[in-house]
Amino acid sequence: MIAAQYFQRNFTINDLGHLEIGGCDVVDLAKTYGTPLYVLDEQQIRANCRQYVDTLAQLYPDFEVVYAGKAFLTKAFCGLLYQERLGLDVVSGGELYTALQAGFPPERLYFHGNNKSREELLFALRHQVGHIMIDNLMELETLIQLAKETGTRPRVMFRLTPGVEAETHAYDQTGQDDSKFGLEIKEGTALKAVKLALQSPQLRLVGFHAHIGSQILEIAPYEATIGVLGEFLATVREKTGFLAPTLDLGGGLGIRYNKHEVPPPIREVVTRIVQKVRETLGALDYPLPRLILEPGRSIVGDAGTTLYTIGNIKEIPGIRKYVVVDGGMTDNPRVALYQAVYEAVIANKMNEQLTEEVTIAGKCCETGDMLIWDLLTAPPAPGDILAVLATGAYNYSMASNYNRLPRPAVVLVASGRADLIVARETFEQLVQNDLIPERLKISAQTIAQ
Ligand code: LLP
Repeated sequence: MIAAQYFQRNFTINDLGHLEIGGCDVVDLAKTYGTPLYVLDEQQIRANCRQYVDTLAQLYPDFEVVYAGKAFLTKAFCGLLYQERLGLDVVSGGELYTALQAGFPPERLYFHGNNKSREELLFALRHQVGHIMIDNLMELETLIQLAKETGTRPRVMFRLTPGVEAETHAYDQTGQDDSKFGLEIKEGTALKAVKLALQSPQLRLVGFHAHIGSQILEIAPYEATIGVLGEFLATVREKTGFLAPTLDLGGGLGIRYNKHEVPPPIREVVTRIVQKVRETLGALDYPLPRLILEPGRSIVGDAGTTLYTIGNIKEIPGIRKYVVVDGGMTDNPRVALYQAVYEAVIANKMNEQLTEEVTIAGKCCETGDMLIWDLLTAPPAPGDILAVLATGAYNYSMASNYNRLPRPAVVLVASGRADLIVARETFEQLVQNDLIPERLKISAQTIAQ
């Protein structure tokens, strides 16, 4: 068996036996930009966006695809989202700032988060962010107050907890009753919030939102959520007369990380969601709202590849062979956090037989800093370029400077062209916020010998 089994749409092998992504030889990319390096395949990102947009356009009258920026966000990426006509979910002042800096239209921003600070809310109000997604009763009160103070009248939606447990890692579940996110429905908190919002002249309530989790590989939990939301919409209509103009069903569709995790195609998920919305609301004689989907991972996840240079290789006889790369949990914390299982290939040995089983370890001072256990690979050697697949989502955005490692660069590749969209962090940047009080300045100290 050779590495070709891993091929994704825009992957090819060139005459040198090297992996090419978006028409670029990744061994050259590693040479030019250094490693670790995140490589993003532009064509794949656009294809993923279009699967959402085109399927909805065929099936539903009024919709918006809102990309969840937490998966991966940079200024250049905002431009790509804008070209693909997506909206953008931001979840902090920093993400909001990034979007505004890129010139993303504020009316297409959705401001999420379960603990937006006063400053963040004011920032959003000042910039007339299109939708503020209210997570809880306290936030509702704060927002009413801030809207009064600033003389603004924001459009808001409520995040609901539907009580649906999707099968995924526990840390990726958000729809269950016991969740830190959203307003619970069963005991009446959500209805109470709706009444308060409708009474407030400061808010324009435009709808409801639910997001049940991430890396979900089934459609049934979405259908269950739509059922719960349908009932809630009917209750709200009955108790208040309010008809929701917008329904946001969140994101969460998984991607293929390995041969055991295989998601249904985007097209199929969207089709079934639309069917269920039509069926549920039709049965309630409820006017069809504007429908929003909020994917993150399924837009950018399978478009990303991380390149590493293989360094030391150590064999523990009878136990295992560790192959160590020049990154690890700092650029991909998902293995340590969620026991994620990745696949990888040696990019400069694509035509060689996969004859060795090795364990890919990171270079951080943590035993948990592992990237892949028991990977079948071509024989590795120091200097080889290892390409870990499907790292586009929640890698760069969750990267850290643990052990004072600089965060890697990001290149966007398409049709044989590579654009650097995030420069590699420098050592100077690592220390730029360090401050030394006079009494700790080493040059000023005299230490008793
Ligand atoms: N909408 C809301 C309100 C969300 O909280 C999220 C993700 C999304 C949309 C997008 O979900 P996606 O389509 O990307 O699954 N760090 C974790 C994932 C955390 C997801 C947080 N919220 C991981 O790497 O598995």
